[in-house]
Amino acid sequence: MNHHRTTLGRTTLAMASATLAAGVSLAATAESPHPAVETLLDLGYPAPQEGELVHIPPTMADLEAADMRPETKAVIRRGYDLFTNTQQLRGENVFNDMNCSSCHLGEGRQPFSAPVWPAAVTLPNYRGKNDHVNNLEERIAGCFAYSMNGVPPEYGSDDMLAMTAYHQWLAKGAPVYPDQPIYGRGFPAPERPDELSYANGEALYGENCAVCHSEDGSGHYEDGEYVFPPTWGDGSNNWGAGIVRTHTAAGFIKNNMPLGQPLSLSDQEAWDIAYYMTQQERPQDPRYAGSVDVVLEKFGPTFHKNSSYGQEREVDGHRLADHANWGEKGDEIKPWNVGVPRFEDLKEE
Ligand code: HEC
Ligand code: HEC
Repeated sequence: MNHHRTTLGRTTLAMASATLAAGVSLAATAESPHPAVETLLDLGYPAPQEGELVHIPPTMADLEAADMRPETKAVIRRGYDLFTNTQQLRGENVFNDMNCSSCHLGEGRQPFSAPVWPAAVTLPNYRGKNDHVNNLEERIAGCFAYSMNGVPPEYGSDDMLAMTAYHQWLAKGAPVYPDQPIYGRGFPAPERPDELSYANGEALYGENCAVCHSEDGSGHYEDGEYVFPPTWGDGSNNWGAGIVRTHTAAGFIKNNMPLGQPLSLSDQEAWDIAYYMTQQERPQDPRYAGSVDVVLEKFGPTFHKNSSYGQEREVDGHRLADHANWGEKGDEIKPWNVGVPRFEDLKEE
């Protein structure tokens, strides 16, 4: 299936990157913000806090100009190509309609859209989701297993090496293991309102989102060509993906959607839409072992504390994720790295 990149998706990034220098890291001050940060401020994003690490990732044009071995550039280019057109791994590593860039806007460079370079300078590090120390490959593998409903390329393979090279290129110039918090990291959620409304979320989704993502969440095709990614259903991320957590979805939506109009929804609206969107069906969590309750026993107090997994949808009593639908992946293929314990010998009692 051919995923067509939309030019709409690049609007924000083009603005933000217009004045970038390659791989700049600086502690921006209120008096002299970086031009790229000024662009973000003009769009309504919050200013960097005192002491936050502000890093402006280099572009692919910067790569061409860089003084690096052509062999290295070719591998980074390949990583970029896989990141923005991950559909080329469809049926092998990807079993839904997503590209990495479907969620990591601006080719993985956009602040407040989970820019991916922080992983290259903060890992290896402990990760609560799998309760051990992860490296960059394993972090990327996580998004393959859950967000792409897929199977990660093998560690050390050409594709995995190319992906890590692209992440590391984006981190060019940023300090390794920074002490400072990172400006624009992740999908920061707006403050959670006291009450969330499914009905309001449904109505708002219909008004603001369905035009691109369709009423039934299946995304949008034109002349048989894929254009917009699915927000739920078989073509979307599975129940183990970070974006099924209501606060992460709210942060994604507030900061990035509707496409080209970031920050246009109120906090309440972003949360209501997230509340509605994360209570629609999608492929099973790959950590599923025959029953929703088993998953909840293991991950209910941690990961799924913030999702609607295994809960009864108020509007119709449907128990969410109570099924053995793995989407296009089927039940034969299992992501091989999910839940594998590591460093057991180093664990203290
Ligand atoms: C369905 C949405 C989605 C897709 C598709 C997706 N990701 Fe992610 N990704 C996330 C979310 C959510 C996070 C966690 C952000 C947070 O910490 O709040 C994340 C985090 C990351 C991080 C860590 C960033 C950091 O700050 O440390 C990396 C690296 C990453 N993704 C790489 C990838 C790659 C590579 C792909 C494609 C193979 C991909 N992602 C596809 C949603 C997605
Ligand atoms: C103008 C078309 C458009 C509108 C309107 C729009 N989106 Fe998107 N959305 C996109 C595109 C395109 C992407 C993928 C980013 C890319 O490829 O650049 C995306 C990505 C997403 C994603 C991450 C990938 C996925 O499919 O899960 C979510 C979630 C999402 N949008 C939710 C929403 C919500 C909620 C609204 C309404 C508030 C909305 N979108 C409005 C075009 C749109």
